[in-house]
Amino acid sequence: MVPPSSSQFLLPRSSVRQVRAAQARGIARLFLYLFVCVCFSTACLSQALPRSEADGISDPALEARVNAILQKMTLEEKIGQLVQYSAGQPTGPGTGRSDYEDMIAKGQIGSLFNVIEPHQINMYQRIAMEKSRLHIPILFGLDVIHGFKTEFPIPLGLASTWDPAIVEKASRVAAMEAAADGIRWTFSPMVDIARDARWGRMAEGAGEDPYLGSAMAAAYVRGYQGARLDAPGSIASCAKHFVGYGAAEAGRDYNTTEISEHTLREFYLPPFHAAVEAGTASLMSAFNTLNGTPSSANPFTLRQVLRREWGFQGLVVSDWNAVGELIPHGLAIDGATAARKAFLAGVDMDMVSSLYHDHLQALVSSRQIPAAAVDEAVRHVLRVKLALGLFEHPFVDEAAAPKALYHPESIALSQTAAERSFVLLKNGSAGDGQPLLPLAKGTQNFALIGPLAEDSSYPDGARPGSGPRTTLLGALVQRAGQEHVTRYKGTGILEGSDQDLADAVAGARKSDIVILALGESPDMSGEAASRAHLGLPGRQQELLEAVVRTGKPVILILFSGRPLTVPWAFEHVPAVVAAWLPGMSGGPALVRTLFGDVNPSGKLVVSWPRSVGQEPLYYNAMNTGRPAETTDLTHAPGNIQDRYVSRYIDEQNSPQFPFGYGLSYTTFSYGPTKVSSDHLNATELNRDLGGNRHAVLSAEAQVSNTGSRAANEIVQLYVRIQGASTEQPVRALKGFQTVSLAPGESKEVKFDLPAESFAVWNDRNQFAAEPSKLTIWIAPDSAHGTPAQAQIVP
Ligand code: NOJ
Repeated sequence: MVPPSSSQFLLPRSSVRQVRAAQARGIARLFLYLFVCVCFSTACLSQALPRSEADGISDPALEARVNAILQKMTLEEKIGQLVQYSAGQPTGPGTGRSDYEDMIAKGQIGSLFNVIEPHQINMYQRIAMEKSRLHIPILFGLDVIHGFKTEFPIPLGLASTWDPAIVEKASRVAAMEAAADGIRWTFSPMVDIARDARWGRMAEGAGEDPYLGSAMAAAYVRGYQGARLDAPGSIASCAKHFVGYGAAEAGRDYNTTEISEHTLREFYLPPFHAAVEAGTASLMSAFNTLNGTPSSANPFTLRQVLRREWGFQGLVVSDWNAVGELIPHGLAIDGATAARKAFLAGVDMDMVSSLYHDHLQALVSSRQIPAAAVDEAVRHVLRVKLALGLFEHPFVDEAAAPKALYHPESIALSQTAAERSFVLLKNGSAGDGQPLLPLAKGTQNFALIGPLAEDSSYPDGARPGSGPRTTLLGALVQRAGQEHVTRYKGTGILEGSDQDLADAVAGARKSDIVILALGESPDMSGEAASRAHLGLPGRQQELLEAVVRTGKPVILILFSGRPLTVPWAFEHVPAVVAAWLPGMSGGPALVRTLFGDVNPSGKLVVSWPRSVGQEPLYYNAMNTGRPAETTDLTHAPGNIQDRYVSRYIDEQNSPQFPFGYGLSYTTFSYGPTKVSSDHLNATELNRDLGGNRHAVLSAEAQVSNTGSRAANEIVQLYVRIQGASTEQPVRALKGFQTVSLAPGESKEVKFDLPAESFAVWNDRNQFAAEPSKLTIWIAPDSAHGTPAQAQIVP
């Protein structure tokens, strides 16, 4: 379906001028009020827009039950369903209030989160079910981000597997464990596009690409929600943060975003759309201001795009106090206005701010908010509760809950996911001409140095499991034997002593091989963890250089929630592995990888910068009018031709490692890309954009394993479109698949591309295919490959 243009929704220019001329803020308010009234009229509701069949919440059978409950509700009870508080360990400043028990009994709370003990969940639920007038169950939520108790790699690591199936399985495990505990709603997946490694929340998403991000978004939703929301082990997902939060200026969390509609449509919205198509029961409205209107008070994104274009029927919850934050944003000067603006824009549930509780009733009485709009928001909440089967099964079985945790298969899955998430960044020789990894048989004495060899890695916002956890140290000792492993701290993450440093260097000298476990502590990424410096924190760089100077072979394992700018390491250390924050089974997964039991296959889902000044850095950028592609950027410009191009005078444009990059213990070669046709017809493509996903073009290339080890290779397909009515990126990912290749084996890898691979958000604000030139690469990453050409003809 070609979504209608935004211009169909916005006020016509002449109307805007009149409103401005009259300085009539009241008129604008009235307009929005009337608009909302019209939208919520029965006629509007009965013409339900096309939507995904995948979500349990769109089941027409639910509607009769929703309406029956709604009819019995007082306005106060309705508003109660739109109110949420944090009743446990807070994950933001303030918690709203704390008289929850009394409020629940009065039907004034629809949802609680951060309550993680089953007996507490039951305690609150009992009040709702036994003391409140209508016995509407509470929906309990939590940030179940990369596992509930069984802890998986952070989402950035999970995405580096490029394997939606493993993401789906991991989220299924998370859902089963959380549901058994009584938590039926996760604030996950985070599907924000992240182009700037300074932004700490890059750790929580799938990186910079909308195509991969969409595949991951859908996989998370399928995993959490299962085939049916009311099945045992299913929980409602919440795609967040809608929208543009990842584009925070200067990578500083919560900062302003300015994103053109073109960029929004092509890059930032697609993963949310994919989550909606996959049936996500909820979305979270973001903190950031988007083009001057905070995302949590933005009718264009929340009503036009989400409800009207995508037909979303589920629940929109604000982020933590995002309704209250409309005041510091400057969009409201009092709580009532903040509540009104957020609500009319389309935020159904108020997380923590308490402003809906405090003001919605008066706003409805004074007709500043239509009663029908409240009904509609309550519908969104009730639909999710009913679809989850909460009315039938409101309580958690406290005795059974622990049995769902840490199943051996779940732990095995966390290890497989970790193994597949590692990205081998460099594998040079330590002097003998052979790649250092995998470790040669008979490697003797290890010095394991660095602050992260024993850390339990979980990022801010995740729940640390108390279950079985084997650290890198533990796993290495198990593998190599206690007598062959000597552990040195070297330095802490941020602070270190001269003595620890000296001991580590002396220890390195006595060893045969050094494993350095360096990077960020888990609380250095995630929410509220933006960094202006992306190098190794504290004295770790000093430690690294001192250890390398011993001349011993060094393997550097980087633990982090983002790429780190460590160019010195990439120049001087023979082997470097990006391990991200690998979860509870990271230790054994790393040891198996270092010893070659598994062959690394992860690839980067973010461009790895050389220096912070390159950020935001992403492969799918525009070419500019002065591309520097033929200019030597390794030194400062020496003449006019070299200077007046889009470049830095003191840094290269290219990343240290491009999006899609990752090495293996084998080598691959890629043949040229071939396409099934050298031309496509724009009219036919546009007909197909209505939803037909059949292949309009096939592309294939031969991929060969030219080394001596069996391996999985993530093969990527990129498209460039030139000559359309809007500028398109130098490359855009439109397909990927993993192929297994025995040593010496070759396979023809084929991609079937649907029409949407060739659609652009055009100068008429529509997705359409336009006459243009196509370049298509099948490649190991976003910087290589031998392309084929084709055209889209009128
Ligand atoms: C704020 C974060 O932005 C959001 O991702 C999270 O779900 C909420 N806090 C609740 O913890």
